[in-house]
Amino acid sequence: MTTPTTTTTSTAVTGAVGASYTRVEGRDKVTGAARYAGEIPFAELAHGWVVLSTIARGRISSVESDAVREMPGVLAVLHHGTAPRVDSDYISMLGPPDPIVEVFQHDRVPFVGWPVALVVAETSEQAREAAEALVVKYEAEPHDVAFSAAHPDTYIPDGDNHQMAKGDLDAELAASAHVVDEEYSTPEEHHSSMEPHAAMARWDAGRLEVVDSNQGSTWVADELAKLFSLDPASVRVRSEHVGGAFGSKGVRVHQILAVMAATVLDRPVRVVLTRRQLFSLTGYRSPTAQRVRLGADADGRLRAVGHQAHSLTSKVHEFVEGSAGFGRPMYASDAHHSVNRVVRLDVPTPTFMRAPGEAPGSFALESALDELAERTGLDPIALRARNEPDVGPVSGLPFGSRNLVACFEEGARRFGWADRDPRPGLRREGRWLIGTGTAAATFPVLAMPSTAAVTAEADGTFTVRITAADVGTGARTALTLIAADALEVAQDRVHVRIGDSDFGPAAISGGSMGTRSWGWAVTAAVRELREQLALGGDIPPQGITVRSDTSEYVFALAQKERHSYGAQFAEVAVDVTTGEVRVRRMLGIFAAGRIVNPLTARSQLVGGMTWGLSMALHEEAVRDQATGGHVGADFAGYHFAANADVPHIEADWVDDPDADDPVGIKGIGEIGIVGAAAAIANAVWHATGVRHRSLPIRPDRVLDAAGARDA
Ligand code: MOS
Repeated sequence: MTTPTTTTTSTAVTGAVGASYTRVEGRDKVTGAARYAGEIPFAELAHGWVVLSTIARGRISSVESDAVREMPGVLAVLHHGTAPRVDSDYISMLGPPDPIVEVFQHDRVPFVGWPVALVVAETSEQAREAAEALVVKYEAEPHDVAFSAAHPDTYIPDGDNHQMAKGDLDAELAASAHVVDEEYSTPEEHHSSMEPHAAMARWDAGRLEVVDSNQGSTWVADELAKLFSLDPASVRVRSEHVGGAFGSKGVRVHQILAVMAATVLDRPVRVVLTRRQLFSLTGYRSPTAQRVRLGADADGRLRAVGHQAHSLTSKVHEFVEGSAGFGRPMYASDAHHSVNRVVRLDVPTPTFMRAPGEAPGSFALESALDELAERTGLDPIALRARNEPDVGPVSGLPFGSRNLVACFEEGARRFGWADRDPRPGLRREGRWLIGTGTAAATFPVLAMPSTAAVTAEADGTFTVRITAADVGTGARTALTLIAADALEVAQDRVHVRIGDSDFGPAAISGGSMGTRSWGWAVTAAVRELREQLALGGDIPPQGITVRSDTSEYVFALAQKERHSYGAQFAEVAVDVTTGEVRVRRMLGIFAAGRIVNPLTARSQLVGGMTWGLSMALHEEAVRDQATGGHVGADFAGYHFAANADVPHIEADWVDDPDADDPVGIKGIGEIGIVGAAAAIANAVWHATGVRHRSLPIRPDRVLDAAGARDA
């Protein structure tokens, strides 16, 4: 283990916030005392196993369940002919639900890996055995899973965000001394949380109880209540520990199927998805095909920024990977055009995945910036600094704090950028060509209304209750520190309880806004509690509880360009005779608000950067055009960075408190991945002189590029 680096934060640290603490549940996690949704024991528990479609489009003609029902331990076989009905005509927190919630409601099959049956048995092994024996017959129809920017059915989705234009792009390009016009692509990528999705459902005295692994228990409870037409007060969802989520852990089929089976059997039922099932059931990041056009004056001042991004969605639901939006808060330019296009295919609906839009969008735009630096003869950092905007380049709105240049300055100093020879392909160490690269990062700063309750207990301790989700981020610990500071007590006098929808509505762990949104609610509740305590008097045995709701504060936030920023640096070694790329070191310097807990924050940022490395070199889900399904949908077929791939990665930050947040928080969940793949691709160019515009930079691509260059 490397020791946590000291930070450059100069915020006066008066208490717990800003100092490093290990996780409050850390001991439980490393000793196994912390239980996850798939392993909590329940009396009378039955087990459901999902059966998935093997065709990409068509109808189920029969589910031949008779033989399977006679198998040992089998209790029920649910499918579209036998399952309870749900009402999917509702609006969730994120809009209309993905029609995957209509599981078992009809006989149509919209993609390979659609759930067609659930076998429930006394044991998980019996359920699996019977599920694998279940014969399902289909009437197959022709399918289309071929993603390309040239697909004739691409369209621009409705909504303000998908097309923005300022100025005359073509005229500015024509007037530019230097132009970059290139295409970039990224593949289908998967969340790959360590913990697969799992849920237990049971009815208890008229209440539905669900024990789940999710990013927001009131969110899941609300949707389950709507789907099953239940009084919201009669649904309780808990999610105590979560082994990674990254955007995939909202309402998915495992909770719905567990509720259906528990209802039919009137006993507790758990549904655990397998690693392979996650590939079709829990969302993913769409592949992208992007075109970036940049035009600049001789001195590198941008006249034109054009970004077109294509992604795919399913035939049943629209989700858009908004890659073209990445550049809007980045660089000043006379003309600024961005558009997201999408095409509907016979595939599962993609979803939010860590830095949706920004992760692939930054690969394209930050690679193109590096190409422009090459053409203008400017240092890549100087080029970015030259185009630093005074106001939002497209919106014209004022910025909140913006410290992108400070990130580059601090990063360049620590990485040793000043000595860099900009010419590519010159540094060799044995069989390795060595190069360095940089790229910028950004992510929006958001907040979501939340409620919290804080209790002053009679024994002098304090209990915080909030429906936060700790998906591995350290949120529980961060909230403990925030509450302790607000209360001005030692953090061991504060107990934070999370992950229970009975605690009331709160933000999801998503959009990098969890800790900011929850911290705000906790701070507000503490403020009011302290006013009450200041009146004096004894604390009764049940304690004194105060509740907060931040809706009015969050809705009153002024319109502003509110973002986190960062500068990514990478050094790579490339063996062009084997095609191997090794990342030697990475450094990320971020301006991401006040950092609550440097220890876990650093883990978050390093985790994001590691994923950026993985995105650059390894990750790629491959779809077979003939069957419409994945090839190798498991961790043998889907590669990601493992220990030996990950070098010394350092993450740190500059002082950047958010003036509108009571604690100064911006959010750090997603920005670590943004720009990281571009920094690596730019370093590969610097090492070899070859641009890689398609991810991942696989050995065969390095070999092909070297062959093409030498031919
Ligand atoms: Mo995140 S992609 O908002 O979980």
